[in-house]
Amino acid sequence: EDIIFPNNDTVIAKADDKVMLSCSYTGTVYDLYWYRQIPGSAPQFLIMEFSGLLTHATHQVPGITMFNRKDTKRTELETAALSDSALYYCALRVGAQ
Ligand SMILES: *[C@@H]1O[C@H](CO)[C@@H](O)[C@H](O)[C@H]1NC(C)=O
Repeated sequence: EDIIFPNNDTVIAKADDKVMLSCSYTGTVYDLYWYRQIPGSAPQFLIMEFSGLLTHATHQVPGITMFNRKDTKRTELETAALSDSALYYCALRVGAQ
């Protein structure tokens, strides 16, 4: 069974702080995704990782990057700007078993 769950609930940061959000997962993961939803807007794809390669959204959000910590089965999203206040989602796709 593959599941993914957030390690952060509410995160409060100062304007120029870098913020690291993280999710943990179990099982065999094919690729990992981060989305965010700014209140009043639709969810927005940010970035994904597949086989060590990052793919940003077409309209890349400045200052956003992600890390896949395979050893600890965590994916991390780093954001940089106060304007990044939003609800963040992590997601995964499992490989064919
Ligand atoms: C989010 O959770 C991870 C894992 O516990 C932690 O390392 C990180 O510092 C947290 N991020 C913030 C901004 O608190």
